[in-house]
Amino acid sequence: MTGNTQQIAEWNGSLGERWAALHDETDRIVAVFGAAALERAAVGAGERVIDVGCGGGETTRELARRVGAAGRVLGLDVSRPLLDLARARAAGSAAAPIEFSEADAAQAELPAAVDLVFSRFGIMFFDQPAPALGHLRRALRPGGRLVFVCWRAPRDNPWAMAPLVAARKHVDLRPPKADPNAPGPFAFADPDRLRALLEEAGYASISIERCDAPVRIGADTRAAAENAARIGPAAQFIRECRPEDRPALMAAIEQALAPLAAADGSISLAGSSWIVSAING
Ligand SMILES: C[S@@+](CC[C@H](N)C(=O)[O-])C[C@H]1O[C@@H](n2cnc3c(N)ncnc32)[C@H](O)[C@@H]1O
Repeated sequence: MTGNTQQIAEWNGSLGERWAALHDETDRIVAVFGAAALERAAVGAGERVIDVGCGGGETTRELARRVGAAGRVLGLDVSRPLLDLARARAAGSAAAPIEFSEADAAQAELPAAVDLVFSRFGIMFFDQPAPALGHLRRALRPGGRLVFVCWRAPRDNPWAMAPLVAARKHVDLRPPKADPNAPGPFAFADPDRLRALLEEAGYASISIERCDAPVRIGADTRAAAENAARIGPAAQFIRECRPEDRPALMAAIEQALAPLAAADGSISLAGSSWIVSAING
C-alpha cells in the first residue's frame, strides 16, 4: 500500500474512465501547455525518456517521434483505462520503441540512467511529493533533465474555476476549506513550495517559469457549460449536487459565461501553468 492509494483508486475509477472517454477534449485543453514543456525539454534523437502520468499517451507518442528510432520512451501511469487508451493509440506508430507500464511513479522500478523525466500535468498527485520526485531523480543519468508542466493556482485558471464559481453561487455554497497542497491538479501551484520540494529531492538548476494561454472551453456558452459539466472542478461539483438541480446549475453556468463570449460566441478563458525544469546535478 502506498500513500497514493486514493489517487490510484480515483484514476482507475470514474475519473480515469471519463478522462479516457473525453481524451480529444482534454488533449485539446492542455495541448498548448504541453507543447511549451516539450520545447523546454529539447528532446534529442536517441534519448531515453520516462513520461510520468502519461494518461492517454499523447505526449508519449510525441516524445517517441522526437527521440526517433534510436531512442526509447516509457509511459508510466496508474490508470488502467487511460493505459488501455494509450496502448491502442500507440499501436502501429513505430516512431520509437514505446513501452507502457501500470505503476505508481513514486515507487515503480524504473529504467536506469535515463536522459529525461517528462510530465504533462501527471506529476502533481503524490501523497509525499519530495520522496517521489527523489525517486524519479534517481532514474536520471548525472546531468539528466526533469521537465514538467503543472497548473498555477485555481484563481489563475478561470477556464477551470469560472464554471465552478457560478455553480457554487447558484446553490449559495461557500467553498469548503481545503488544503491547497493536497495531491491534485493544483498541488504544485505555490512556486516556493515547489522549489523547496525539488531541492529536497536533490535537483539542481531549478527553473520555474510561468506559461499562460487562453483555453477554449466551448464554441458557445451552451457547449462551454456542457464541457465544464463533463470534466474539471465544476463537473465534480455538479455530480455531487442533486440531479434535479442540474438544469438550474447549467443555466447558472451559461449565464455567468455569456458576458465572457468572444465575437464569434466562443468561450476562451485564461489558463496559467508553470513550466518546470531541473537537473540531476
Ligand atoms: C491530468 S492527467 C494527465 C494525463 C496526461 N499526461 C495528459 O497530459 O493527457 C494525470 C495523470 O496522472 C496519472 N497519475 C496520477 N498519480 C500517478 C502516480 N502516482 N503514478 C503515475 N501516474 C499517476 C493519472 O492516472 C493520470 O493519467
